[in-house]
Amino acid sequence: MENAYTADEHRYDAMNYRRCGRSGILLPAISLGLWHNFGSVDDYANYSRIAFTAFDNGITHFDLANNYGPVYGSAEENFGKILKNGLGRYRDELIISTKAGYDMWAGPYGNWGSRKYLMASLDQSLRRMGLEYVDIFYSHRPDPETPVEETMGAMVDIVRQGKALYAGISNYKPEQTRKAVEALRACGVPCLIHQARYSMFDRWVEPELLSVLDETGIGMIAFSPLAQGLLSDRYLHGIPADSRAARETGRLKREQITDERLSQIARLNEIARRRGQSLAEMALAWLLRDRRVTSVLIGASSVEQLKTNLRARNNTAFSDEELTEIEKILRA
Ligand SMILES: NC(=O)c1ccc[n+]([C@@H]2O[C@H](COP(=O)([O-])OP(=O)(O)OC[C@H]3O[C@@H](n4cnc5c(N)ncnc54)[C@H](OP(=O)(O)O)[C@@H]3O)[C@@H](O)[C@H]2O)c1
Repeated sequence: MENAYTADEHRYDAMNYRRCGRSGILLPAISLGLWHNFGSVDDYANYSRIAFTAFDNGITHFDLANNYGPVYGSAEENFGKILKNGLGRYRDELIISTKAGYDMWAGPYGNWGSRKYLMASLDQSLRRMGLEYVDIFYSHRPDPETPVEETMGAMVDIVRQGKALYAGISNYKPEQTRKAVEALRACGVPCLIHQARYSMFDRWVEPELLSVLDETGIGMIAFSPLAQGLLSDRYLHGIPADSRAARETGRLKREQITDERLSQIARLNEIARRRGQSLAEMALAWLLRDRRVTSVLIGASSVEQLKTNLRARNNTAFSDEELTEIEKILRA
């Protein structure tokens, strides 16, 4: 491991860690996701620097899935390289998650929630990352055709085999969450965490899911907290050529950048400026003000973006006036 990475000795000085539901696990307020920017179409020098800088700043949690890339599997392979090039020395300081539930390979056993798929997919993920176990394995989405007992039964066995330390679910609606949690509990394996989309622009978790998780003692990690970059200054003056909305492999669609959205973004940006924050910082802080949100799971295409987002920790307090003003903009 020539020139291998060595972590900053001050990495734990500034990050705050929040308890994940009623569990023994603390997660950093800000976690890093590898959905975009870590695939075979991306540049190792750039994304490895993002991962190392994240850990240097106390981000102990890295989130993957079997099909992150493109191409599918390449984010896990590339994360395996990052581990091999130094990050892996700190394995016991890391919470690494992966998932299965969306399409991964051809045929009837490479998608959804069967035991067959979940078991095979995790074995593949471990091989790609060069790991013996992941910390969290997720059912990536509920499968309406497979009994929840089968999907959760596979998760239980995965935990018992030691291939994952904890079980998680993602994209489950409140009622589906209750059923999954019960099925896991019946086998003596708690559900650690729910990964759900949550941002100022997508608040589906607020009416019910957040309180279900709070009552059942399950942590919540908010994905796409910047609405894939919309909640930043990225699109204030058009669509930059290197942005997710412009890149062919990006999952943010140009159609999502409407005039109404841009007007909301500009008005939110004004409030952020008054608070002495960038819009990205404010959007993350707005989520973190709710103690039921364990962590915000960001993406970043540069070290600069990551560093901006880390500053969100510095001010997560909002005055009633600010909250009312934000609410008015979001409801417009
Ligand atoms: N469970 C699920 O179904 C699911 C689904 C989606 C995501 N996830 C997880 O959530 C993670 C995060 O999702 P996401 O990438 O959509 O999160 P996000 O934080 O909402 O968006 C990240 C993107 O926003 C832009 N950005 C970030 N910080 C910025 C800043 N300070 N200023 C300007 N632009 C900034 C960058 O886009 P540019 O590329 O334009 O620079 C970046 O790639 C994923 O990696 C994955 O781990 C899970």
